[in-house]
Amino acid sequence: MTDALRPEDPTWHSDDPHLAGVFTPVAREIDVADLTVVSGRIPEDLSGAYMRNGPNPLFQPLSYTYPLDGDGMIHAVFFDNGRARYRNRFVETRELKVERRAGHAVWGGLMAPRPIDPALLSPGGPGSPFKNGAFINVLSHGGHLLALGEAEAAYEMTMELETLCEWTAGTGAPLPIGAHNRHHPVTGDLFAIAYDPESPEVQVRRIDPAGRLADNFTVRLPAPSMIHDFVLTERHVVLLVGPAIFDIEAAQRGGSVLAWRPDLGTTIAVVGLDGSAPTMLEADPFFVYHFANGFERGSSIIIDYVRHPAFSLGPDGDDGAPHLHRLVLDPATRQIRDARISDFATEFPRVNDRLEARATCFVYVPQLTGTLTRGPHPSATFNAISKVDTETGATRTHDLGERVAGEPVFIPKPGASAEDDGYLAVFATDPAAMTSDLVLLDAADVSREPVAVIRMPQRVPQGLHGTWVGR
Ligand SMILES: [Fe+2]
Repeated sequence: MTDALRPEDPTWHSDDPHLAGVFTPVAREIDVADLTVVSGRIPEDLSGAYMRNGPNPLFQPLSYTYPLDGDGMIHAVFFDNGRARYRNRFVETRELKVERRAGHAVWGGLMAPRPIDPALLSPGGPGSPFKNGAFINVLSHGGHLLALGEAEAAYEMTMELETLCEWTAGTGAPLPIGAHNRHHPVTGDLFAIAYDPESPEVQVRRIDPAGRLADNFTVRLPAPSMIHDFVLTERHVVLLVGPAIFDIEAAQRGGSVLAWRPDLGTTIAVVGLDGSAPTMLEADPFFVYHFANGFERGSSIIIDYVRHPAFSLGPDGDDGAPHLHRLVLDPATRQIRDARISDFATEFPRVNDRLEARATCFVYVPQLTGTLTRGPHPSATFNAISKVDTETGATRTHDLGERVAGEPVFIPKPGASAEDDGYLAVFATDPAAMTSDLVLLDAADVSREPVAVIRMPQRVPQGLHGTWVGR
């Protein structure tokens, strides 16, 4: 490890493994044109931006729980005519502005919320003890670029990553939505959910292709639950709700705000796209952060996802290894079948987004192989990208060796028709040199030499979710 402080490093230090090593936040915002291509070449017809968000606290946190605390920072690589440029910016949330004025962290973190000193707030400023960091995801819809948090208002950004304001979706007030939202393949509507830690009611929102809220309906669950992602098919919204239950009273007594209650089992809600004909099913307890995709096949709904045997938070959390699974359910017969697709532990599954809610054969996931010898390996540490055929389980892997990588994002080639005719974009960081590359893989055969390896002008911390915004 290089111990010398690099220009992008924060001036503070934390022993939290998710704030150290390749997870260390960066403090510096820069713009660099004409990035160096280390190997391969940037395809001439690649035109658009790969963007990735992640928790990147500016000030030393008062408490920190990965991946639920932090400030958003978006790292973007813009492609045009075979060249690439880099820009990174904080998401300037209302809370971050308060902390910038104070010169230190003010919010206490999800697991240790604390009252906010009113003297630090402007009239009408954010007063909740929970910070909206907008650090989980980034998504483009209807010409709106959104930095997304968990069940809270998204922040609209410009394509050059200047923060505009909380997104209202044409409603006149900031609209809480989740970190993961899904496009309907026929109508182009964006479906989003918003849960409430103090209520068992989940809001399902339909936002039209221009970015205006068009419909909203409620799904009532047995208890207030954490729902990070959901499934959209051509005809249904499906919520798979593991028993990670909010307990605000316990939190006020100093306990955990979230409790794993396996006795309650996992609830599966299958609902029409307008909220009609809800079918509620019960399954053995398991938890899902992320779905790869879901689609209809006859009377069945196919769901490819990463299954956690349980849920836990905090530095000692050990919920057991998550694996790629396929769940097949038939709402009419109430049958549920589930099978593991891959034997390796994984997370952050992605597909070709153009086929969201339609049948897909391939899921792209990171995994951790034995070729990454340099530790430690806190959760969300990976060093390989795998392409999994969900029908056969056949897997091709690109092993990045001693480089740490995360979620692969699919970039379709212009005019592509085959599902895997595109590239996978992923940031990879050398934990010894503390340098990062953007690696572009050929999605048709990920095991080949990368299409291009582009050196980033500063380290890009291990983060969460990204997107491709094509031109
Ligand atoms: Fe996520």
